Amino acid sequence: MSKNLYIKTYGCQMNVYDSDRITDLLKPLNYQLTNDPAQADLSILNTCHIREKAEQKVYSDLGRLREHQTNRRQQGDEMLIAVGGCVAQAEGDEILRQAPYVSMVFGPQTYHRLPEMIAQITRQQDAYKGKGAGRGIVDTDFPIESKFDSLPIPQSSSTSAFLSIQEGCDKFCTFCVVPYTRGAEYSRPVEDILQEAKRLVELGAKEITLLGQNVNAYHGQALRTSSHSSAQEWGLGRLLHELATIEGLQRLRYTTSHPRDMDQDLIDAHGQIPQLMPFLHLPVQSGSDALLKAMNRKHTAKDYLHVVDSLRKARPDIAFSSDFIVGFPGETAQDHQATLDLVKEVGFAQAYSFKYSVRPGTPAGSMDLQVKESLKTERLYELQDLLKERQWTFNKTKVGTVQPVLFDRIGKVPGQILGKTPYMQSVPLEAPKRLLGCITDILIQEAYANSITGIISSLEPIAVAA
Ligand code: SAH
Ligand code: SF4
Ligand code: F3S
Repeated sequence: MSKNLYIKTYGCQMNVYDSDRITDLLKPLNYQLTNDPAQADLSILNTCHIREKAEQKVYSDLGRLREHQTNRRQQGDEMLIAVGGCVAQAEGDEILRQAPYVSMVFGPQTYHRLPEMIAQITRQQDAYKGKGAGRGIVDTDFPIESKFDSLPIPQSSSTSAFLSIQEGCDKFCTFCVVPYTRGAEYSRPVEDILQEAKRLVELGAKEITLLGQNVNAYHGQALRTSSHSSAQEWGLGRLLHELATIEGLQRLRYTTSHPRDMDQDLIDAHGQIPQLMPFLHLPVQSGSDALLKAMNRKHTAKDYLHVVDSLRKARPDIAFSSDFIVGFPGETAQDHQATLDLVKEVGFAQAYSFKYSVRPGTPAGSMDLQVKESLKTERLYELQDLLKERQWTFNKTKVGTVQPVLFDRIGKVPGQILGKTPYMQSVPLEAPKRLLGCITDILIQEAYANSITGIISSLEPIAVAA
């Protein structure tokens, strides 16, 4: 009998990838995805811990799920509730204490054990018949075995697919929880990645975005080949070259990169691989050397500009996006100005900016000179105004050009489809659905702050009446 699975995914693209894998993993157990938690036999919250009050948000979502659970029980149906992801990793047992109606708590490195956990909970339920399910299970280890070895091959793919190649982080930026929730850096073996990429393309992917918390720190093992007798380590540059040989794979991207790990091989790849899209998300966080040091980013503003410069030499039309934190402890007016100056110098095509917020247990949380909330807000607005203006300026440079757009989604407005240019600009267009999954040339006529649009630039000759 088929069962309904509801998954709510928070946070980064790695969580989106994990939720897809969880869906694949539960298919053999007859779970089918539903968008309606009221109908779910199993509800999973795949959580993110990067922002302030992340836990509260999870507990309030859990409260809503509990209402559905109660309603279902009144009708004689069950709903198992599970919490995964980075809040689960950080909170662990605390989740069962605060929400005893939760059956399973698992981390980003243990979700491959979900089928076992479900079996165990179901056995407990049978044993406790009518008296609840007994105590829930918490599994937030960092197991020695790689979860990737236990995951089934993908069962479906969207036009634009994600593929996790690297996980975890050894950088320990002083503001960040990721090294604690995702664990130490790990790179998947080359062959596994190639196999998964080929599979995604067979299933219809035209674009693959390689994922990792520090994706460009990738250093995976490749099996020995005829020309090399021993196993070797490949960097991301080499991996991209190999992926580009997959027939039918038209676009490659990777995210998120750390400026320190942009090696020459990878920079060169941007000039050599046509499928590698001319857009890079390269978080800088701040333009002030003093703050970069306090953040433990291990590079200066000048180092960052140098990387940008080298990438522009390799691929002159490359566009950049970034992450910024304002109001990091000790940030002065001059530090803030240095960030604004760096933005003006690079001219980002997109960016995300955040007010610094304390993540418990991270070094920056206990630093002196925490910045006042009102000042953080003021600086954030100032930075965002500048970033918005830069994004619009960038969008306007494409008016009058023809852009190949990969349409991959239905838009919110009826009759509209949504696509992306090589530079990650969003393109809403009123066009037939048959263009979904195709790259179509669009003559860009309008630029907005967050999108651009135009008309299909058909190369077919227009029939002229005789
Ligand atoms: N691995 C990526 C980023 C992961 S977190 C990298 O190294 O760049 C995504 C973004 O969230 C970060 O780039 C940072 O800008 C922001 N962020 C992380 N912790 C934060 C905190 N405590 N306060 C505010 N923003 C934070
Ligand atoms: Fe967090 Fe820094 Fe690692 Fe990025 S590099 S995940 S910001 S610790
Ligand atoms: Fe969030 Fe964890 Fe990703 S904290 S940003 S879901 S790595």
